[in-house]
Amino acid sequence: MRAVVVLAAGKGTRMRSDRPKVLHELLGLPLLAYPLEAASAVGVTQRVVVVGHGREKIRERFGGSALGDGKSSGGLVWAVQDPQLGTGHAAHCGVEALVESLKIGSSKSKLDDLQVLVLNGDLPLLRVETLTALVERHESSGAAATLLTCEKENPRGYGRIVRAAGGAFETIVEEPDADAATREIREVNVGTYVFRASAFREFFPRTKAENRQGEYYLPDVAVVAARAGLRVETFSVEDETETAQVNSRSELARAGEILRARILDDLMASGVTIDDPRTTYIESGVRIGRDSRILPFTVIQRGVEIGENCEVGPFAHLRAGTKLEAHASIGNFVEIKKSVIGPGSKVRHLSYVGDGIVGRDVNIGAGTIFANYDGVRKSTTQVQDGAFIGSGTVLVAPVTIGKGARTGAGSVVLRNRDVPDGETVAGVPAKRIEKVAQQT
Ligand code: UD1
Ligand code: CA
Repeated sequence: MRAVVVLAAGKGTRMRSDRPKVLHELLGLPLLAYPLEAASAVGVTQRVVVVGHGREKIRERFGGSALGDGKSSGGLVWAVQDPQLGTGHAAHCGVEALVESLKIGSSKSKLDDLQVLVLNGDLPLLRVETLTALVERHESSGAAATLLTCEKENPRGYGRIVRAAGGAFETIVEEPDADAATREIREVNVGTYVFRASAFREFFPRTKAENRQGEYYLPDVAVVAARAGLRVETFSVEDETETAQVNSRSELARAGEILRARILDDLMASGVTIDDPRTTYIESGVRIGRDSRILPFTVIQRGVEIGENCEVGPFAHLRAGTKLEAHASIGNFVEIKKSVIGPGSKVRHLSYVGDGIVGRDVNIGAGTIFANYDGVRKSTTQVQDGAFIGSGTVLVAPVTIGKGARTGAGSVVLRNRDVPDGETVAGVPAKRIEKVAQQT
């Protein structure tokens, strides 16, 4: 049986923030969502999050969901670590909560059979493939513990892996405890481990907080087990970018850059043109169809869906809940929030479309505003197939513009003054214009 314990009780001092570190966002999701989501894909039966500092805020944000969006289901077990005495102590709190939740505390064979993936909560870039390979290596070798390591270009800020002359794993030295020679070692502890539950419970009590930081170190559990003659394996991750940890805001930005490039590469590989990846911000969890093109300086938020052959940007902002159907075209300085833009429809310049349902082959003229918010309520605006909205129109929601209807430039269409199919309105407030008048 496999389970995961994610460590998220630390203060995150280096962030200099009132917000717990794991709630800082990376491309639309709180940091903590990343290890939780990756671990879920490894096939764990139980997920435990160790919280301490700022735990109310974390629980509120996640409310049982792994993505912290309150939507995805699948329960989390919360373990409280208070006071925070180090990562080893945090993992201990997590493992005890896990054993308790599974009700297996008294069964030696069940504890021997339980493999616990322990992840630092500040490692958002680990790939599912890497975690899977780590767990499989651990299980097939029968080790008591397996550590993920990485040969890094710049090992600063990581615990160093010290090996004996023959290459066997010997110990891990944290940077504050390391002498100059140890700091030269480039193989580091990534902060991702698998422990056989019985071994963890046996060896954690043998670790001591005798180090520079006065903390119980998680890596020490593996070190003590190895010294007692148990098998401890290491597994190395090739791609250094996966090991990026977030201790500070500049590391948060750097992790964001790596993740952003990964998302854009995946989209390009799937047939999306991105004119300038350097200035394109697309969050995780955005779907874009083949042959769509994203122009520079565009921001697309999590949950947006874009069909095939669409064009977006430059300088466009698509917010959550937006769906563009095939051949839709969104131009510069356009913001779209929680709206559907039908096939072939165009919003090309300087517009705000919020809570809109726009049909097929609609043209939304420059500077159109969907006035969706009256200060209390948000309401929906519908613009049906083939309608033509003149430049500078304000559509005060809730309102419906019928099929093939038109608004004149600068019209203000008041709420509930629906425009019937085929009609034309103009003025402030917009009034019906007779077809005859229009022809003169
Ligand atoms: C840790 C490792 C280090 C590794 C690095 C890489 C230890 C002692 N060191 O160092 O070897 O190279 O990660 O990612 O483990 N936490 C708690 N309770 C605590 C302390 C920390 O839950 O009492 C949590 C934090 O919230 C964080 C995680 O554990 O999510 C790691 O703690 P952090 O302080 O970032 O450890 P590092 O110093 O980076
Ligand atoms: Ca860290």
